Amino acid sequence: MLVALCSFKGSPGVTTSALAIAACSPTHAQPVVVECDPAGGDIFARFRLQPIPGLVSLAAAARRGVGPGVLAQHTQRLPGGLPVVVGPAGAEQARAALGEITHHQAAVLRAAADQDGMVVLADCGRVDPDSPALPIVRAADALVLLVHARDDELAHVATRLDTAARWTPKPCLVLVGNGYPTSEVARVLGVGVMGRIPHDPKGAAILSGTAHAGRGLQRTPLGRAATRIWTPLSAPPTVAPVGSQPSTKPVPPPRSGLPVGSVTRTSVNRTQP
Ligand SMILES: Nc1ncnc2c1ncn2[C@@H]1O[C@H](COP(=O)(O)OP(=O)(O)OP(=O)(O)O)[C@@H](O)[C@H]1O
Ligand SMILES: [Mg+2]
Repeated sequence: MLVALCSFKGSPGVTTSALAIAACSPTHAQPVVVECDPAGGDIFARFRLQPIPGLVSLAAAARRGVGPGVLAQHTQRLPGGLPVVVGPAGAEQARAALGEITHHQAAVLRAAADQDGMVVLADCGRVDPDSPALPIVRAADALVLLVHARDDELAHVATRLDTAARWTPKPCLVLVGNGYPTSEVARVLGVGVMGRIPHDPKGAAILSGTAHAGRGLQRTPLGRAATRIWTPLSAPPTVAPVGSQPSTKPVPPPRSGLPVGSVTRTSVNRTQP
């Protein structure tokens, strides 16, 4: 399975959530995180890894062939053992590497993702129609858009859901932090919400390389939320129906209704399943 994770704007925690979801995978899944952010990667610096092997060496290898084992040859391991393909720090290098990796509908990622039990989580960063990571989004089995559940970020999502629906039949949201209730977001935007990642600085610090896992990431609120996301992620079809994932925890009530209805009623209706 190939899962593309991205945002439309801001830094809602795409990289952190991709690592959390991968690190909290069920035992039958073999996850690998691939940092495909055209703005450049953060993982190698955060965890003091080497820049190579990673996306750049994978791109060079993909020119020679895209067999199912190629991706695994360009991974490094995070503390705890999670395999990652780290992106280069520079945007120019990242974009050049993505140019190679996205050939033939991201064949090098697809070949790995089509193996039994393999789950390739591609962190595509902020996407727009010009993103060099877009072919990965289009080739993915699931598109997960991370967004803070607050006015400004939801307004951007609302105006761009139509575009996302052209990339993939059923884009899904994962809400981050407090804000509007999960069910209200799903209902108003007419989009599946896979789950909710809490604001959890301690959990995030483990995934940023600044804290040790201690008793385990799985015991943190972030880890528990990431574990729950595997249920809609694994269930066929690859996205949950609208409103099927109720909020797991009460969230502070919003000041008023979602800011998006009047602006984008057409797009909301069009994406309603
Ligand atoms: N659930 C969370 N709770 C608390 N802090 C978080 C959470 N997720 C991410 N963070 C913190 O927010 C910052 C940005 O996170 P991250 O790099 O994952 O965002 P991003 O969406 O990938 O950003 P970018 O688009 O710049 O790559 C980091 O300092 C990270 O530790
Ligand atoms: Mg990121």
